Amino acid sequence: MTLLVALKAVSDLLLPTIMADIIDIGIAKSDIDYILQAGTIMITIAIFGGIFAILSRYFASKISAHIGADLRQKVFEKITYLSFHEINQFGASSLITRTTNDITQIQNVLGVALRLAFFAPLMLFSTLFITLSKDFQLTIVIISGTLLLMAFMTIILHFSIPLFKRNQKMIDAINLVVKERLNGVREIRAFNKTQFEEEKFNKKSLELQQISTTANRLLSALMPAVQLTFSVISILLVWYGALRIENGSLQIGELMAFLQYSVQLVLSIVMLLIVFIVIPRAKVSIERVIEILDIENEITDNGTEINSQGRGKIEYRHVSFFYDKPRNKDKKILPTLDDVTTILEPGKYHAIIGSTGSGKSSMIRLLERFYDPTSGEILIDDIDIKKYPNKYLKQIISVSSQKVEILSGTIRSNVDINNCLTDEAVIDALKKAGAYEFVEKLKDGIHHKLNRSGSNLSGGQKQRISIARALAKKSLIYIFDDSFSALDYKTETKVKDALLKALENKTIIVVAQKIQSIQNAHNILVMDQGKLVASGTHQELKKNCKIYQEIINSQKNTEIYE
Ligand SMILES: Nc1ncnc2c1ncn2[C@@H]1O[C@H](COP(=O)(O)OP(=O)(O)OP(=O)(O)O)[C@@H](O)[C@H]1O
Ligand SMILES: [Mg+2]
Repeated sequence: MTLLVALKAVSDLLLPTIMADIIDIGIAKSDIDYILQAGTIMITIAIFGGIFAILSRYFASKISAHIGADLRQKVFEKITYLSFHEINQFGASSLITRTTNDITQIQNVLGVALRLAFFAPLMLFSTLFITLSKDFQLTIVIISGTLLLMAFMTIILHFSIPLFKRNQKMIDAINLVVKERLNGVREIRAFNKTQFEEEKFNKKSLELQQISTTANRLLSALMPAVQLTFSVISILLVWYGALRIENGSLQIGELMAFLQYSVQLVLSIVMLLIVFIVIPRAKVSIERVIEILDIENEITDNGTEINSQGRGKIEYRHVSFFYDKPRNKDKKILPTLDDVTTILEPGKYHAIIGSTGSGKSSMIRLLERFYDPTSGEILIDDIDIKKYPNKYLKQIISVSSQKVEILSGTIRSNVDINNCLTDEAVIDALKKAGAYEFVEKLKDGIHHKLNRSGSNLSGGQKQRISIARALAKKSLIYIFDDSFSALDYKTETKVKDALLKALENKTIIVVAQKIQSIQNAHNILVMDQGKLVASGTHQELKKNCKIYQEIINSQKNTEIYE
């Protein structure tokens, strides 16, 4: 790459001198042979110069595209492993801009920089060296013009660079509005907020427009300035050169070569200028990308233990947890989980019950290591879960989470996420989850296409797909977090019976709000405001636990109806 650029510079530098010789020697002495000979050399050099230019452009694009792709891959991988804390810290929309727009900026700049960062200074200094060695006075004319131009450029850059920074931030903001608009499209329409959202978008879009217009206006002053400088230099050169030709101290060919060198000089300054414009612009993007690559993952993955004898015994030991660590000691923030200690025996059916916000799902999220406890520890089969490799931990726990995530694809690809099951196994899981009854009615059966986030399924259908997905995975521990809430009582009982039978000898945790759903569990944990207030069977809790009795009383009416 460097060689190509250097060869192109040499060819550009040779041409004006040869031309000067053609004029001063060939034309002045009417030496046709010399003109033809030198002309042929000029054409050959020009052709090679062109080839070098094309090749350097080709390689620059290739290299920058490769680096861009690598960077994108790295950032994407990093994002995949970020903890929820870290994702919230940046915001999903900023992460999207950083993986797309910012990396494209870096890639574009790299393409330009690879070609020009070396070529421009090389041309600048060699042209100066050649002109100085040929004629000192004429070079002074050129230098004073270029110095003026450089001063002007510095001022413009000084004002435009901060604008680029704001430009990227504005793109983040616009992404956020669009994302919210798309995710919340139903709510926005239902609450007649369409106009409000449009105004919000227009406002952000207008701000972005203003910033980029101002930045581009500033930059657009550069080209006229370059042309003006170039014209002034040419006029001065011709005027002063003519005087020198008159008194015989300069030849016409030399003056013409000087004119060409002055073009090259101004052009190399413009190229340098482009490098100076694009590099700060990329610097903003590079910093934003590095910020992501530099994150030390909060959830470490350096465990190596694997327990092949494990049966899925779970133990919470004095587990306390804050989503946001309290920074100010005076301000009392209640923990989401408060000193939870319990053992869930393997191969049994456990349930967690408690009012909304009492910390049930948080207990599951900690078990899955989406977060680590603020204090205390969680053990599976008597080993701290931090000591297991994350991959292994994910393998031994199968969760149907409260917020069902459907990925774009087919019903089959949603049940068999790792694409390792036979059609029969997928259908079996769907049957046990009570989902096959609606799947078999679809024209394409398990190959029925699902939209992103499952918008072409009902809430209960989505839940059943999610249950089937959890069942299809071979694990030790199966967790169903509020997975039956959208099912009617009859379907719920049928599905639950089927899955209890299918998961015999596995550790099962069902999170629920209705006592009716879990009363035959071997062990029920009662959560209240982050605390584990009691555990036992339905009969034991009914006798001994006040909060459990309160829940029963509050749900009595519904039981009568059912
Ligand atoms: N990502 C989060 N960031 C901050 N706070 C959170 C987050 N998720 C949950 N919380 C808070 O933690 C508390 C417990 O939430 P959790 O989801 O565990 O409740 P839950 O018992 O599962 O409730 P539900 O029955 O409604 O699902 C709530 O007060 C909630 O506001
Ligand atoms: Mg929950």
